[in-house]
Amino acid sequence: MKRKSLKAITKETKTVHVPSSIKPQRARQLIRRFHLLLKNKTLALQKLQSSEADYLTKLKQIGTFQVYSGNRQKVVDSIKVNSLETENVIKIESLEPMFLSGLLGRIDGEIFKRGGLDAYQVASTQGQNGKRGGDSSKYLIKWLSELELFSKVGIKPNALEIGCLSSQNLISTSKVFEEVVRIDLQSQESKILKQDFMQRPLPKNDTEKFNLISCSLVLNFVPTASDRGQMLKRVTTFLKETHSYFFLVLPLPCITNSRYCTQEHVAKLMSSLGFQELKFYQAQKIAYWLYKWNGSKSLTGKTFLKKELVSGKGMNNFCIVLD
Ligand SMILES: C[S@@+](CC[C@H](N)C(=O)[O-])C[C@H]1O[C@@H](n2cnc3c(N)ncnc32)[C@H](O)[C@@H]1O
Repeated sequence: MKRKSLKAITKETKTVHVPSSIKPQRARQLIRRFHLLLKNKTLALQKLQSSEADYLTKLKQIGTFQVYSGNRQKVVDSIKVNSLETENVIKIESLEPMFLSGLLGRIDGEIFKRGGLDAYQVASTQGQNGKRGGDSSKYLIKWLSELELFSKVGIKPNALEIGCLSSQNLISTSKVFEEVVRIDLQSQESKILKQDFMQRPLPKNDTEKFNLISCSLVLNFVPTASDRGQMLKRVTTFLKETHSYFFLVLPLPCITNSRYCTQEHVAKLMSSLGFQELKFYQAQKIAYWLYKWNGSKSLTGKTFLKKELVSGKGMNNFCIVLD
């Protein structure tokens, strides 16, 4: 069989159709599958001691690029349905580079076949549809006005929205903020900067910091427990020393059905980073928090390792590690 050139494969990858709307049940399935694929990809990249930016170069160097660059769709078709279901089925930690490259090829192939990050974002946007829970920043804006946090002190606050899917969210349209910086790994609009928060250049002074950072349904997207902890730590470096707040949103099962994470655990971990809980709301499927940040002097440096807190059948493994 004639082998396709990399150029031809790249061309192929541009033709997957991403629907503009997805049914709710399908959207939930898609979101769960993406989280799983990305988690496994992160584990494979860690084992390869590589990153998203340079793993293709690394695979080429170690000579396994041929496996990776095979016809992706064919590889995807042969994927075993359960092979990525749990971390334990494929022990990524024990795979040799050759197999890791095959695994990465299958994961990338499936992400591509499912429509890539674009499809994930369409599925996530369904959740922002009013009928399906709506824009999560409505709680943030309600709380800010109830507590008069900025109006009381007469400052004109700015905000950073990490993981932004729309510039028409209440954060942007409520006029509470003088400036809103919106970032996402994959930007759907010109008003949203395509940027990985973990790579955003660190602020040089207080004027480059924010009064409010919103992190709504982003932390659960981050594939590993220690990367989640790193993200929360990094948030503190972007907050102003005074009058600064953090809005956190997580799917409810992250704190009600996880072996390693409970509401109490989140409270302790956040407190160790200098966050004081001002508001908490538990909706049917989502948990919302508003925190005040007490400045860099309030960082304790405490560690929180992966530890089973609750046991039971059918629980999930969501976890946040501070090490
Ligand atoms: C489930 S969507 C949530 C969107 C929206 N904030 C909401 O509440 O509905 C998660 C978004 O976070 C983005 N994201 C994940 N990690 C990120 C990072 N490190 N930097 C910037 N955006 C990130 C993803 O690209 C995705 O669009």
